[in-house]
Amino acid sequence: MNKIQLAPNFSLSRIVHGQMRMMEWNMNPQQLLSMMQELVELGVTTFDHADIYGGYHCESLLGEVFKLDKSLRNKVEIVTKCGIKVVSDRYPGLKVKHYDYSKAHILKSVDLSLEGFGTDHIDLLLLHRPAPFFDPAEVAEAFTQLKRQGKVLQFGVSNFGAAQFEMLQHYLDMPLVTNQVEISPYCLEHFENGNMEFFIKNSIHPMAWSPVAGGRLMSPWDAKGPRIMPVIRQVAEELGVDEVEKVIYAWLLKHSSRMLPVVGSGKMDRIKNALAAIDLEMSLEQWYMIYVAALGKELP
Ligand SMILES: NC(=O)c1ccc[n+]([C@@H]2O[C@H](COP(=O)([O-])OP(=O)(O)OC[C@H]3O[C@@H](n4cnc5c(N)ncnc54)[C@H](OP(=O)(O)O)[C@@H]3O)[C@@H](O)[C@H]2O)c1
Repeated sequence: MNKIQLAPNFSLSRIVHGQMRMMEWNMNPQQLLSMMQELVELGVTTFDHADIYGGYHCESLLGEVFKLDKSLRNKVEIVTKCGIKVVSDRYPGLKVKHYDYSKAHILKSVDLSLEGFGTDHIDLLLLHRPAPFFDPAEVAEAFTQLKRQGKVLQFGVSNFGAAQFEMLQHYLDMPLVTNQVEISPYCLEHFENGNMEFFIKNSIHPMAWSPVAGGRLMSPWDAKGPRIMPVIRQVAEELGVDEVEKVIYAWLLKHSSRMLPVVGSGKMDRIKNALAAIDLEMSLEQWYMIYVAALGKELP
């Protein structure tokens, strides 16, 4: 079982299954259950959600899956996020999409997530995005209460910069165990904004969302993908692998931050490519070939 420890007695599977696109897969709860049972067998035990996914409906779809197999919940770790309020049937009358990190909203949001999943605890709660209006003391109160009630086991953030992470951490008496950020050869942002250095310095393993850039890397209509993909195909040939996705996942998995890719595909074969990449050895030079192609220019 390939796991990454984020805190004492708290680990997630090295490959996380992201279920943001769950409603688009057109699978019924029974089909989703079969997929998740197979994933758990293969060692993918962590499932990533957010309250807003599927217009606030993905969490309850997973809840339907849990109802079909009562033993499944205790074999998996649920990650979910809160903080984004969008105009929707959940918030009728809302005039503008915004972020709400008030204590009341965080507590309410967790209760709704628990109800949707049909469970008594969330393994890891993330604040979805940093916000221009943010009171870390109030967030700390919410986290402390949720931890004490046993409703949330661990806490983290998503899309935070190092300073935003440190600010919140300063107010907490528990560690933020991860930061879920976009990382792929398509998106080098966190190699360039100081976050990678911050992660490694603080032994934080980031979760990497959109590891194949939501499919854009493979899209011939995109401007950036076609620049990067020939090099990825070259490395695939050198490594003797047929699927380019394996090379992309290996590129992420090799990195010294020991990140956890959050794979968003609804297709078993594609998720298995991510698992296969765990055992794929990539040389440092091959890693840099992809980095340089992604950068679009030679290193200085
Ligand atoms: N924290 C955040 O702000 C944030 C933001 C976005 C996402 N996330 C999380 O990260 C997870 C992954 O994000 P993502 O779905 O964007 O990740 P992804 O794995 O980069 O992209 C998945 C998408 O790419 C398609 N795809 C995969 N391989 C492909 C190929 N070879 N050719 C063409 N299309 C291909 C998939 O289609 P198929 O299903 O047909 O394979 C799916 O639509 C989400 O589920 C969510 O949990 C978090």
